Amino acid sequence: MRLKIAVLAGDGIGPEVTQQATNILRAVAELGGHDFTFVEGLIGGVAITKTGSPLPTTTLDAALDSDAVLLGAVGDNQFNALPPDKRPEAGLLQIRQALGGFANLRPSIAYAALATSSPLRPEVTKDVDILFVRELLGGLYFGAPRWWDRDSNEAINTMRYTRDEIVRVARVAFELASKRRKKVTSVDKANVLEVSQLWRATVTEVAKDYPVVTLEHQLVDSMAMHIMNIPRNFDVVLTENLFGDILSDEAGVITGSLGMLPSATIGGAVNLYEPVHGSAPDIAGTGKANPLGAILTAAMVLRHSANLEQDARAVEQAVHTVLNAGYRTADIARGQDPGQTPVTTQEMGKLV
Ligand code: NAI
Ligand code: MG
Repeated sequence: MRLKIAVLAGDGIGPEVTQQATNILRAVAELGGHDFTFVEGLIGGVAITKTGSPLPTTTLDAALDSDAVLLGAVGDNQFNALPPDKRPEAGLLQIRQALGGFANLRPSIAYAALATSSPLRPEVTKDVDILFVRELLGGLYFGAPRWWDRDSNEAINTMRYTRDEIVRVARVAFELASKRRKKVTSVDKANVLEVSQLWRATVTEVAKDYPVVTLEHQLVDSMAMHIMNIPRNFDVVLTENLFGDILSDEAGVITGSLGMLPSATIGGAVNLYEPVHGSAPDIAGTGKANPLGAILTAAMVLRHSANLEQDARAVEQAVHTVLNAGYRTADIARGQDPGQTPVTTQEMGKLV
């Protein structure tokens, strides 16, 4: 297996956690006899400092020329005074747009060893393994018209989807579900919104091509409660942009720490992989960053860009193993639990 990976480590803890993620990929390549090459590129504040731009063309070219883009995080307080389009975060928006992925995948997994890190009761979170598939390029965030008329004090955003936009993201959800527990929960607000009625009709139609997968529909408001009460009932959750943004953040609570959450954006020119967390300037350079979100993101690279399902599972299993053995970065440590060993970013990566 050959894979060219563009590594954009970015700012703050980005380079610290990305280093651990690439170490994992190097180990997988060595053990499996794969040929992975890594091309480093600048993005975010570090790119502004060195080139004046948050996303230099050399970085964009390297990303477009790769098989997968692995991103750390961007954001640096020293640029807070700049206008939004000049700030580090602009680099992130630009690369997401340039790569064009329409399906954002966010797993929400309960780790038995971290059951006390989640505010939810362990009997509720036990064995939870949800994969959110959020449509990323349509809906309220992009629909036109959009404006805020400051004279009349009226503002408009437009929730808009076409059938084709729904079909392509639904196919991603059904394909993934057919390799998992074979259930898709499609979330909408079809009792109120026309867009949701089109969404529901279209997803129901796509489901006919996947007879092994069970489809259920949920309204977004009751789904918000079900995620807290019966998260174990869900396998793949398919939804539009705004609902997916909110519900996947809500479900992040199940895992217990922002530092544990991976993501992938697929369907565009090149898939983009990034941990959910930001550059965490408050802990940058202290060795406190949890690298597991970035490492689980590397597992997603193996699954979705290299088709190495067994290797992806081996990495995920290794994360379970080190957690079960009691190793903890500061964000997932709990004072009262005995049998924990505090570790740094580097140590955690090495253990995995
Ligand atoms: P953040 O995710 O960087 O940090 C939020 C809190 O979680 C902080 O207390 C941080 O220490 C902690 N945290 C985050 N990741 C962690 C990890 N791996 N291990 C242990 N603790 C971790 O979000 P915040 O503070 O709102 O933003 C900081 C900067 O990051 C800003 O410039 C923001 O724009 C940027 N940002 C970038 C994102 C990205 O690159 N995808 C996403 C979110 C924020
Ligand atoms: Mg969000």
